[in-house]
Amino acid sequence: MSLLDLLASRAPRMKASEIRELLKLLDQPDIISFAGGIPDPALFPAQAIADAYASVLGGAEAGAALQYQVSEGYLPLRKWLAGEMGKLGVACDEHNIFITSGSQQALDYLGKLFLSPGDTALVTWPTYLGALQAFNAYEPRYDRLTPDGGNMTPAAYQAAAEASSTSAKEGGKVKFAYLVPDFANPTGETLNRQQREAVLDLAGELDIAVIEDAAYRALRYDGEAQPPILALDCERSGGIENARTLYCGSFSKILSPGMRVGWVCAPRRVVERLVLMKQASDLHSPSINQVVMHRVSEAVFDSHVEKLIDAYRQRRDGLLAALEAEMPDGVSWSRPEGGMFVWLTLPEGSDATALLARSVKEARIAFVPGNAFHADGSGRNTMRMSFTLADERAVGAGVPRLAKLMKG
Ligand SMILES: Cc1ncc(COP(=O)(O)O)c(C=O)c1O
Repeated sequence: MSLLDLLASRAPRMKASEIRELLKLLDQPDIISFAGGIPDPALFPAQAIADAYASVLGGAEAGAALQYQVSEGYLPLRKWLAGEMGKLGVACDEHNIFITSGSQQALDYLGKLFLSPGDTALVTWPTYLGALQAFNAYEPRYDRLTPDGGNMTPAAYQAAAEASSTSAKEGGKVKFAYLVPDFANPTGETLNRQQREAVLDLAGELDIAVIEDAAYRALRYDGEAQPPILALDCERSGGIENARTLYCGSFSKILSPGMRVGWVCAPRRVVERLVLMKQASDLHSPSINQVVMHRVSEAVFDSHVEKLIDAYRQRRDGLLAALEAEMPDGVSWSRPEGGMFVWLTLPEGSDATALLARSVKEARIAFVPGNAFHADGSGRNTMRMSFTLADERAVGAGVPRLAKLMKG
């Protein structure tokens, strides 16, 4: 008997990507990496975080910070977040806020809450790889989210699931549209207000939920802020309790990903379901990290965002200027107004995965091939470059080497 013969039907859908394996090799110091979508550790507010841990553990709150916590999360943090959501046009209170261990956990829970095997999740082509990995465990089908061109009808999704050759037929309903409307991972692109309204129109027609992944929302370097889809939804539906949009926020890109604190802002009846899920899963996110995140956010969140914007804007501009100067004809790229990523499209027929293998070996440059972000396996001629760690030296040395490889 092999233990692997005993695995659940969902297990084979959870597999390491070919790219993750390749990127594991990138720890060598001579590699210039545009691959990781991570914040620059030199920009963490380390002193403010250290001071907050010391003061919490040395003070009256030490007992509560080291104790079990309610599953919905630390109340002062939830109240603070409800206030922040209010500033974005989402009137809500602490009952609408649910604290997660990073927004990745929110994606897992929302997949678990909504998807039966064979149900359809609408996602953009490309989309955030981690969302596909989170949803995959619940055995959905995927269809491309195309608010402008329209999507299939609910009956057509059901017929497609019934006709499917997979065993996962118990679902068949289209359940939600998932998207990253601000400075998307991987494309860096942002939806304007009209496009956001179109997503809500489509969701209304299909009568499905919208999962708004706002992980990068605060990192806008230029252009005008767009309202969250949840705010537009509240406006049309009369308030958060009638909304169909579930907003996933994160402290990871601003203060610290290692502390693992994110949140969902949603109608209360959905939060209550998520609380039951968390009780069964990990009881609650670490109490002390929530207490510290609250203190640090109250003290420095806004000023720290300003610092990050100054630093990352320069790096984005540096990368875009180098691409302009060096890239061969036939290569195009996005010009993001914020976030961490530039998305490149190579000439038709190019293979960015093969290019990465050569690039690591011959040029010592890393990036992420775009194919991994496509639920249908397309996008072989696309690639993602992150600029958060791309200082002048890395860009000055790296982009010409990459361009030379592409030309050769
Ligand atoms: C679009 C998007 N959503 C969610 C996450 C998960 O972030 P975290 O779990 O650290 O909040 C990431 C991380 O890269 C991301 O890019």
